[in-house]
Amino acid sequence: SRVVKLALIPGDGIGPEVVAEAESALDAATAESDIRFDKTTFSLGAARYLETGDTLTDDDLAAITGHDAILLGAVGGVPGDPRLKDANIERGLLLRLRFELDHYVNLRPSKLYPGASGPLADPGEIDFVVVREGTEGPYVGNGGSVRRGTPHEVANETSVNTAFGVERVVRYAFALAERRSKRLTLVHKTNVLVHSGGLWKRIVDAVASEHPDVAVDYLHVDAATIFLVANPGRFDVIVTDNLFGDILTDLAGAVTGGIGLAASGNINPDGTFPSMFEPVHGSAPDIAGQQKADPTAAILSVALLLDHLGLRDEAARVTSAVEADVAARGSEPRTTAQIGDAIRARLQA
Ligand code: NAD
Ligand code: IPM
Ligand code: MN
Repeated sequence: SRVVKLALIPGDGIGPEVVAEAESALDAATAESDIRFDKTTFSLGAARYLETGDTLTDDDLAAITGHDAILLGAVGGVPGDPRLKDANIERGLLLRLRFELDHYVNLRPSKLYPGASGPLADPGEIDFVVVREGTEGPYVGNGGSVRRGTPHEVANETSVNTAFGVERVVRYAFALAERRSKRLTLVHKTNVLVHSGGLWKRIVDAVASEHPDVAVDYLHVDAATIFLVANPGRFDVIVTDNLFGDILTDLAGAVTGGIGLAASGNINPDGTFPSMFEPVHGSAPDIAGQQKADPTAAILSVALLLDHLGLRDEAARVTSAVEADVAARGSEPRTTAQIGDAIRARLQA
């Protein structure tokens, strides 16, 4: 039987709560398959940092790299916690993993499942995917400040966009659009960010000429937020940079029934490094430890993970179980474990 080495990073806050449910969904979905998951749990995050002072050591990174895939809950402490000021768990752990493992596609599907209660009165059908660039943009840490703490402080955070980096993610997005409804929207801010925006636009135009059957359009990011709320059905594949993609996908989560349903994959399409799957949401310190988190986003991240590993039937079973659970949702509040149990029961039925 096939053995998949899976690295688990439950992380902080609600991370361990939702990963526990995701893990049991994974087990249930693959119980009858000819596949075994050999799991290693890595205790990483703000809690680990406060205990040991380590964020992600080179040994941690090497050990994680030796796995076939990664499932992550969420990392990060309470925003503003002074003890974490020098740690920067988000950069030192999460972004370091995305960069070192060359996760240049941050894949964030948004689908409104029947029964999900979103904030839109008349949402229509919503089913799009944001292809967020994952290794460049303002995230690379190309910045600095001078005269810090003075009235003359200058703080720069330069967005890095390379032709190589933009082209590879744009090509991925076009290939995805070919397999879907053949509509692709570039989101940027070319009217203001003329240098990076110009590069993105030229590359999209060039790759578009190789895909005559894909309808391509362009929106400035501010206008894109209007359409995401006013007419989300217009989108199929959105391709955008790291920061715009971050912001748009929290909004996309909100309009499709809440951030507790939004899954993502940090993909290394070349297969050189393990890909990493995680909910779009964070560690939610405001509800952590109370069994209030919705584990569905983590469970749908398992579906993305299975799909990435080529286990399409198992992935589809997880998605169907979630779909059925969402359709049956009433107004009664359920605990994290109750939602996880209900989805697992459907997988075992
Ligand atoms: P957050 O996503 O953790 O929380 C935003 C709001 O959404 C909160 O009210 C929270 O209770 C709610 N929420 C989030 N997930 C939920 C779920 N599964 N079910 C129900 N409600 C849910 O964002 P934040 O408050 O800005 O960040 C908290 C910490 O998490 C910070 O340290 C941040 O840097 C970190 N973070 C980590 C990741 C990650 O690890 N991938 C992602 C985003 C934020
Ligand atoms: C996300 C998060 C991360 C990001 C942070 C925690 C670094 O918000 O996964 O969406 O900005 O990418
Ligand atoms: Mn985010």
